[in-house]
Amino acid sequence: MFWVVTPILPCATACANGQITRLNPLPHTRDVHIISRPPALQALHGCPNMTTGLHRTARRTHSFTESVIREMTRVAREHEAVNLAQGFPDFPAPELLKEAAAAAIRADINQYAITWGAPNLRHALARKYLEHYGMEVDTETEITITCGGTEAMASVMLAVVDPGDEVIVMEPFYENYGPDAVLCEAKPVFLTLEAPEYRLEKAMLEEAVSSKTRAIVINTPNNPTGRVFDREEMQAIADVCIKHDILAITDEIYEHIYYEGEHLPLATFEGMRDRTITISGLSKTFSVTGWRIGTIIAPPQLSGAIRKVHDFLTVGAPAPLQEACAVGLNELPQEYYTDMVAGYKARGEVLVKGLQDAGFKCQYPQGAYYVLADFSDLSDEDSMTFGRRLASEGGVAPVPGGSFFSDPSRGHSLARFVFCKQIQTLHEASERLKAFATRG
Ligand SMILES: Cc1ncc(COP(=O)(O)O)c(C=O)c1O
Repeated sequence: MFWVVTPILPCATACANGQITRLNPLPHTRDVHIISRPPALQALHGCPNMTTGLHRTARRTHSFTESVIREMTRVAREHEAVNLAQGFPDFPAPELLKEAAAAAIRADINQYAITWGAPNLRHALARKYLEHYGMEVDTETEITITCGGTEAMASVMLAVVDPGDEVIVMEPFYENYGPDAVLCEAKPVFLTLEAPEYRLEKAMLEEAVSSKTRAIVINTPNNPTGRVFDREEMQAIADVCIKHDILAITDEIYEHIYYEGEHLPLATFEGMRDRTITISGLSKTFSVTGWRIGTIIAPPQLSGAIRKVHDFLTVGAPAPLQEACAVGLNELPQEYYTDMVAGYKARGEVLVKGLQDAGFKCQYPQGAYYVLADFSDLSDEDSMTFGRRLASEGGVAPVPGGSFFSDPSRGHSLARFVFCKQIQTLHEASERLKAFATRG
């Protein structure tokens, strides 16, 4: 779901200030100039009936298009390319979880769970937060289980962000944050972190804050940069949130997948427990992206509102799969987590070497399972053209870097590759990358 709009005069209320970009909350086709969009949106954009008549569509949808990630998945299929675009593992989920899911279905746990989550899963989660992070969480008032981290983020924003509020989103970003803010008729304010360090500077964060700022979205370990924010960066976020009375919404879906540093939940920083909404889920930790189990930890009053939104959106997450995730959290030993990280590290090394041997500039990520690589030594095409050509001619599908920025030109020479794939898949991709680079 990639979209980017730049307001044009005289209707523009937004401004581009250095690396901080404020977007119109409800971009109207007359008011905005779309500077880059995939064909699907171009077709829609040219349709005269989009804003009038029986089949007019809501304005809030007009700046959205199909996910570039899923589009690249389709291109990969069309050209039989190795799909290194979409972040789903191509190896099995833990046997324990699969058995637990089957057992739950056989035990007739097949009806609605409690809307904010099955008790077993809420208790397992509370125990995990206490054991891993020393964080005490009330199972009755502070936990909401959702249909994946995706629904968690949408429910949270709809519950705490009002029309006209500003939400700070760091870029390169995971593709949902901006559209989630737009769904709330809020204004995403993009703060660009500079390659190759993608370091968060407190002064820049301060600059992005205005009297309308309601929340900051923080994703660490990060997709797509692979950054794991260190203590200094996390403290800077905490300081700014406290100083300006802002909420932090964290996306910690890769909390157990990091190779350097440590995962530091923002909610554990002094003064932050009460102003942090912690989002995570089991999609990545248990390699079950299709199960759609997400988690939210929030103070009781905020949880109350989040639960209402979640109830009206989805009623609840799949009941038997919640039971299975509870079993996974309770019974998988520490070695499971250690082995998972070791496995990803080995995979990442194959991919990084393959990319570097083919002439890409990239470094090993600190966390998550993505490599954001610079292809400027191979081509001066824009990222979309290069990404499509790499898929169709080179047989490896990445995600074009432009799709991680509010202004795609900032990701002009970047492509993102995933490595949550079997080692032999990554070796095959490396061979293809080398052949593609040699052919030119
Ligand atoms: C940073 C980030 N947040 C959220 C998600 C979505 O998680 P889920 O599959 O649980 O909806 C992803 C998936 O790739 C992600 O990379």
